[in-house]
Amino acid sequence: MSNNRHENFQRPEYKPVQGGRGLGQRGRGGPGAHLGMIPEKPKDFKKTLKRLIKFLSKYNISIFVVLILTIAATIFTIFAPKITGNAITIVFQGMMDKANKIPGASIDFHALYKILLNLSILYLFSIAFNYAQQYIMAGVAQSTVKDLREKMMQKMNKLPLKYFDSKTHGEILSRFTNDIDTISSTLQQGLVQVFSSVISIVGVIIMMLTINPILTLITVLTLPLSILATSVIAKQSQKHFRNQQKILGQLNGHIEESFSGHIVIKAYNREKNSIENFENINNSLYDVGWKSQFFAGIIMPLMTFIGNIGYVVIAVVGGYFVTKRLITIGDIQAFIQYSHQFTQPIIGIANIVNLIQSTIASAERVFEVLDENEQSPDPAFPVDLRDVKGQIDFDRVYFSYDPEKKLIENITFSASPGDTIAIVGPTGAGKTTLVNLLLRFYELYKGNILIDSVKTTDMTRSRLRKIFAMVLQDTWLFSGSIKENIAYGKENAREEEIIEAAKNAHAHHFITLLPDGYDTVLNEETSNLSIGEKQLLTIARAFLADPDILILDEATSNVDTLTEIKIQQAMKSLMRNRTSFVIAHRLSTIKNADMILVMNEGKIVESGTHQGLLSENGFYAELYNSQFLGIAI
Ligand SMILES: Nc1ncnc2c1ncn2[C@@H]1O[C@H](COP(=O)(O)OP(=O)(O)OP(=O)(O)O)[C@@H](O)[C@H]1O
Ligand SMILES: [Mg+2]
Repeated sequence: MSNNRHENFQRPEYKPVQGGRGLGQRGRGGPGAHLGMIPEKPKDFKKTLKRLIKFLSKYNISIFVVLILTIAATIFTIFAPKITGNAITIVFQGMMDKANKIPGASIDFHALYKILLNLSILYLFSIAFNYAQQYIMAGVAQSTVKDLREKMMQKMNKLPLKYFDSKTHGEILSRFTNDIDTISSTLQQGLVQVFSSVISIVGVIIMMLTINPILTLITVLTLPLSILATSVIAKQSQKHFRNQQKILGQLNGHIEESFSGHIVIKAYNREKNSIENFENINNSLYDVGWKSQFFAGIIMPLMTFIGNIGYVVIAVVGGYFVTKRLITIGDIQAFIQYSHQFTQPIIGIANIVNLIQSTIASAERVFEVLDENEQSPDPAFPVDLRDVKGQIDFDRVYFSYDPEKKLIENITFSASPGDTIAIVGPTGAGKTTLVNLLLRFYELYKGNILIDSVKTTDMTRSRLRKIFAMVLQDTWLFSGSIKENIAYGKENAREEEIIEAAKNAHAHHFITLLPDGYDTVLNEETSNLSIGEKQLLTIARAFLADPDILILDEATSNVDTLTEIKIQQAMKSLMRNRTSFVIAHRLSTIKNADMILVMNEGKIVESGTHQGLLSENGFYAELYNSQFLGIAI
């Protein structure tokens, strides 16, 4: 059961804020969909916004064109009601004149056609502009997030391992997916919406003023009422959303745990508990779920209701003005359309404020990754070590993962070419850490590690790592065929080489017994092979890689005696004629090592051969005897 994955589910800030309606799926919720949601607060809004704008600056021209197109499209839609109003006035005038039996009175169809033609052209242009603007903006948004993704991926490869130790997989994953997704959809829709909303509001107010200032005042007055009502309900809804988020996290955690711990639950007969637990969580989720959805759901109808009250007042007052011949009937019709056009962008902007906050918070997290300290660069003129002999020197090496907690201290030793060096010591002594340092997964605090008298810091990391092959206890296999997994040790490996390596590793036999042989595909968790079989595969991989130096970390625990003998035989032939490091808990396996380093609490406390160390009767002798007597260390 992985704690990391579990933790991921309990981090609501990295998930779309609203259950089923994530930020990436905007639009489906309709206008107002975001009003009830909890906006994420960025730490430094201004700074991140500036940086995002700077990041977008190479698209300045495109964005400028989009701005112009948006203004044009919006202006057209603003004029449309006024023109429609004129048409209505003409029809109405004609009919009234006829009704009043004015001689020669008729509807001025010529003027009407002209107006309708103008209107059609206006709408056509508006559509064309909208189309063009979306087209450009989609390009800008997609290439921006593509850039961001690329930059992040490059960064990932330059970050030291230390960074990944401090972050869960979920956190890193969510920056690549959720955060980038949020930025992309806001760029795609939000930016244009901001432009058009602002222009609409200004434009509509101007148009309304030209029709009638008093009616305009009535419309604008409904605004504070809507804002007040919305904010009261949004607060309620946000409270429930927050709860929903929390409980959803619990539910995810529970489900994840139930799946990954399936066997444990069954083995201990805890199904009933598990189901009860699930039901409790599920019930609470139902409870907050419906409340949050209910409150979020009534925001829009409420705004519409307040808007409608506005219409009624306008219709009444407007009707009165028409009878007094203060304004025309068409103008009233236009005005009602305007008051509608007025509330839309206001809702839009209210939505966007939340959205922009989440987007900036997302951008902040992405930039945070891009700003992380990188590992020190490879040397400008690296030593290209060829024909590695395998001499290794640790020279007064100091290191710890946590600056506050000392670990490796003053380690010095030398291994001659072809030697087998065994590292033993209790759990947590620092054995694996020593290997991590050898491969330069982490940087030393002090001291040097040399291979054939060349400092590892004087080589490129990739050259350094080519020297080694590792067989670890947590077998590094990936979902892919057995063939591909073995071939991972060598680029462009031929089929015969792969089979040869498998034979050397005593893996050939079991592979041929599998239904698909070498083409058997390992599943995601590589659970379709036994641990021993997986170890044989990693040994085969090491055979194929034919490294200059070999590292075996606890490679022979967890398997039956017969398999262990097989694995040991395989490793013995693998270690022949090359410098090898063997970390083993079972001391019986390393008796023949040329040198045994005994570690405790980050220091080498003893070193020598098996016999030598035993006769010293120190820490090693104690470890060995306790194992020999069957007492676990
Ligand atoms: N990535 C890491 N970040 C922080 N601390 C770590 C990390 N890896 C190991 N440690 C700590 O460093 C110490 C040494 O760990 P190391 O893995 O080297 O022990 P080990 O000797 O290999 O133990 P074992 O025999 O159990 O494999 C331990 O206290 C461990 O908690
Ligand atoms: Mg270890």
